[in-house]
Amino acid sequence: MKLTGSPLAVFALAASLPLTAAAAKSGGGPDKDGKYWIRAKGIEASFIPYGASISNLFIDDRYGIRRDLVGGFDNASYYGIDAQHPHFGGVPGRYANRIKNSTFSIDGTTYRVLPNENPTKAEPNGTDTLHGGPDGWDWRNFTVTAHTPTSITFSIVDPDGKEGFPGEVVSHITYTVKEHQWDLKMVALATTKKTPIMLSSHTYWNLDGFANNETQTALNHTLHLPYSGQRVDVDGYLIPTGDILANKKGTANDFWSRPKQLGKGFEQSGIKNNCGNNCTGFDTCYIVNRDALQPFDWRTEGPVASLSSAWSGIHLDVYSDQTAFQVYSCNGQNGTLALKKTQGLHGNKRFPRTIPQYGCLVMEVEDWIDGINNPEWGRKQVYGPGDEPYVLQASYRFSIDGKKSA
Ligand SMILES: *[C@@H]1O[C@H](CO)[C@@H](O)[C@H](O)[C@H]1NC(C)=O
Ligand SMILES: *[C@@H]1O[C@H](CO)[C@@H](O)[C@H](O)[C@H]1NC(C)=O
Ligand SMILES: *[C@@H]1O[C@H](CO)[C@@H](O)[C@H](O)[C@H]1NC(C)=O
Ligand SMILES: *[C@@H]1O[C@H](CO)[C@@H](O)[C@H](O)[C@H]1NC(C)=O
Ligand SMILES: *[C@@H]1O[C@H](CO)[C@@H](O)[C@H](O)[C@H]1NC(C)=O
Ligand SMILES: *[C@@H]1O[C@H](CO)[C@@H](O)[C@H](O)[C@H]1NC(C)=O
Ligand SMILES: *[C@@H]1O[C@H](CO)[C@@H](O)[C@H](O)[C@H]1NC(C)=O
Ligand SMILES: *[C@@H]1O[C@H](CO)[C@@H](O)[C@H](O)[C@H]1NC(C)=O
Repeated sequence: MKLTGSPLAVFALAASLPLTAAAAKSGGGPDKDGKYWIRAKGIEASFIPYGASISNLFIDDRYGIRRDLVGGFDNASYYGIDAQHPHFGGVPGRYANRIKNSTFSIDGTTYRVLPNENPTKAEPNGTDTLHGGPDGWDWRNFTVTAHTPTSITFSIVDPDGKEGFPGEVVSHITYTVKEHQWDLKMVALATTKKTPIMLSSHTYWNLDGFANNETQTALNHTLHLPYSGQRVDVDGYLIPTGDILANKKGTANDFWSRPKQLGKGFEQSGIKNNCGNNCTGFDTCYIVNRDALQPFDWRTEGPVASLSSAWSGIHLDVYSDQTAFQVYSCNGQNGTLALKKTQGLHGNKRFPRTIPQYGCLVMEVEDWIDGINNPEWGRKQVYGPGDEPYVLQASYRFSIDGKKSA
């Protein structure tokens, strides 16, 4: 195990994760493509150290055909090489989504972090920070600290000052599978200074494994967000304005009143510029509003989101302890990212073996985006030494045509 960082961080890792050689070995180690596999009945998934990313997720469809439901690459070494870097299946950190003007304040001190989005002539590197900066967590290799046949844990020590963030952060990302279910738990500790922490899982879904022979897009997928009657208002660059908006019934962002095909939303009011300037589609932070149900257990009070495809018959219920849910409809994809060998239609001349615009859906469990710059929301997004750890939990449960068996 190779870990760098302060003695405190290494101690925190060692204390919480005593990795024995036997534990590391029991999961089998990486395959020839650098992927680590975990398996349970009806589910098989692979992960890579790069960004602690999910790289494959196999579920049988209604015909008993294995489908690989998540975007990714064929091997671990290619993730760092690909210049497009769509944050494929990784953990954005230490602060997911956008930080306005790459600036925030803690206890009266203003911090400037590295920008990496929306460059101008005056600011060629960007005017805001997306997903933790140009070398955010999902550009780095995590350390595999445990691997069993059904679970894997990745760890990272994010040094003080990296990307401009104050203080060191130590984090453990654990993925587990059980029958037809993928669970994740993310824990992070600020070990030396107060710093913003907000994580997520940036997984690209296509419940047909990009093998639907009638449509290349995911616009026929049906989405339900039963607790999301509100969303975070954003400007043309997707930076929160501070306002919270109502998702009025029958408008494009209404996924709460009933399950709705994504494509249907494109015919409803409010879809134009819904994902920023000149962008038609979704890149939206929906609020998960369950306060009235307190107390509740997030493992049973849900799902916060359901996604299904009538073509494959695959239905996904997402349970989470988080209070927001970002949906991105792959507006920025344009057919230049290749599908994995395990996806798409082989020998089909009609569709190219690439991800088209609207070919997928990213669903991100998270907190309210840019809460550090909107203190009026009252979010807990700054963590310091001695605080309770940051924790994010989610559970992805699959069924086929409404049944668990497949
Ligand atoms: C990894 O995958 C990429 C993209 O599919 C491919 O170009 C490359 O040859 C592969 N490398 C190895 C070592 O398999
Ligand atoms: C990350 O790991 C991959 C293989 O899994 C390797 O090809 C790559 O060089 C590593 N990158 C860094 C920055 O260590
Ligand atoms: C497609 O998107 C990629 C990544 O954003 C970009 O580099 C490329 O220029 C785009 N290609 C076209 C034809 O728009
Ligand atoms: C952006 O932040 C810098 C400090 O990092 C500040 O000087 C500048 O006024 C801010 N710009 C806007 C538009 O808020
Ligand atoms: C932009 O980023 C590059 C590469 O990280 C860096 O060398 C340069 O100083 C940055 N420029 C500005 C204006 O911040
Ligand atoms: C698509 O696949 C389904 C299921 O395998 C099949 O029934 C149907 O005929 C196919 N349609 C086309 C247009 O190939
Ligand atoms: C897409 O959904 C529509 C119903 O909205 C249905 O008529 C059509 O057959 C579906 N197409 C595919 C390829 O799943
Ligand atoms: C939107 O697109 C139009 C037409 O291509 C262009 O003139 C305009 O500058 C774009 N607006 C922004 C904010 O990108």
